[in-house]
Amino acid sequence: MILFPEGRPTKRQSFEEYRASGGYESAPEKFSPQTILEEVTESGLRGRGGAGFPVGKKWEIARTTPTTPRYVVCNAGEDEPGSFKDRVLLEHHPHLVLEGTILAARAIEADSAYFYINETYADCVSRMTEAIAEATAAGYLRSLKVSIHRAPTVYVAGEDSAALEVLEGKAAKPRQKPPYPATAGLFGKPTAVNNVETLANIPLILRNGASWFRRYGTAESPGTMIFCLGDEMNSPGAYEFPFGTPLRQLYDAGGGLKNGKTLKAILPGGPSCAFLTSDQLDTPLDPESCKRAGTTLGCGVMRFYSEDTCMVVETLRIAQFFARESCGQCPACRMETSMLATMLERINEGKGNPALFDQFQKILDFNRGKGFCALINMPGPPITSALRLFRDEFEEHARTGTCRYALPARADV
Ligand SMILES: Cc1cc2nc3c(=O)[nH]c(=O)nc-3n(C[C@H](O)[C@H](O)[C@H](O)COP(=O)(O)O)c2cc1C
Ligand code: SF4
Repeated sequence: MILFPEGRPTKRQSFEEYRASGGYESAPEKFSPQTILEEVTESGLRGRGGAGFPVGKKWEIARTTPTTPRYVVCNAGEDEPGSFKDRVLLEHHPHLVLEGTILAARAIEADSAYFYINETYADCVSRMTEAIAEATAAGYLRSLKVSIHRAPTVYVAGEDSAALEVLEGKAAKPRQKPPYPATAGLFGKPTAVNNVETLANIPLILRNGASWFRRYGTAESPGTMIFCLGDEMNSPGAYEFPFGTPLRQLYDAGGGLKNGKTLKAILPGGPSCAFLTSDQLDTPLDPESCKRAGTTLGCGVMRFYSEDTCMVVETLRIAQFFARESCGQCPACRMETSMLATMLERINEGKGNPALFDQFQKILDFNRGKGFCALINMPGPPITSALRLFRDEFEEHARTGTCRYALPARADV
């Protein structure tokens, strides 16, 4: 189950190797749609694309919606800064992801499946093209039509309804919900949109059983999660750990920060989550424990910040990222994301006064949920947590416009 115990996958699995490891044993005679649905529901698998929605429940909704045809979309939009787990899975385990997608299609009785792949991932496209040809020749696809589509490299293009718009030939703009894709998705038909990592779990669950899957992780969050560590670490890479593993274990697996730097802060789930401080390194890595610690796991992009990081500049970069990535169709999101970035710019430049600090929460509260997608809620947690945890730095910047830390902040988010 641990795909990358050493941190980095070293080998690209071939079709023969995948079959030799038990791949494609989930023949239709053995696994009816109902059996797949029951086993996946029983496993407690939740989506790994960020929202953590129960997979069995999403499939049940799609399957019981009487409209046909139904579709499956494997979401490899992956434009979240620092995330590369889906690329690693598609490149190294294309058949695992393909079999998971075939099983998802069987579960909801879909007749077409789409691989929606980040347009910069040329290697993934060629690996999947090859895998689809091999599986087709071996008869594993049966009547399922499978195709590959390129996802634009804008963050919001990975949002499930925006992905459906792109697949329909339109601009990458999220739809207002409800209806959700599971009831009215691609071309208005029931569609299961699932993340690559989510689908990679499916063949393993069916081959080994839900109770085997539940042996990993916690009772509420069974299984494992792949975490991406960036270049600030001595050993960056994609690490798979069971839910509930202490954050410290992941930090140690990454070899700690480069140049022997001391840890100052952690962003455990990408730019939309709340910061933790170094004394929270023993927080177990699962959604429930992270919630108790005041943060979220997102899709597993783990960032560690060293002692000499300016948290004002880091927070500003995150706010600027959301302002840049807002697709702009909801006035509240457009206004909120640009205002937050401007306010942080003013503080950073020494033009803000402390009264400005209280405005952040008011702006966030006023706009919460007023957009077509979750992006409108994303800038809040990093900003409010940074203001709470590193208040002195914000006050210093607002007063002097300078930074007491030696190093400039990283160039990316
Ligand atoms: C702005 C934004 C960007 C997103 N980008 C991705 C993405 O690149 N890949 C992904 O799987 N999910 C992404 N999501 C989440 C999807 O909307 C959706 O929840 C997910 O694909 C469902 O799959 P899962 O249930 O297997 O997690 C994004 C959501 C938002 C709001
Ligand atoms: S909330 Fe923001 S990103 Fe999402 S659809 Fe509206 S404007 Fe676009």
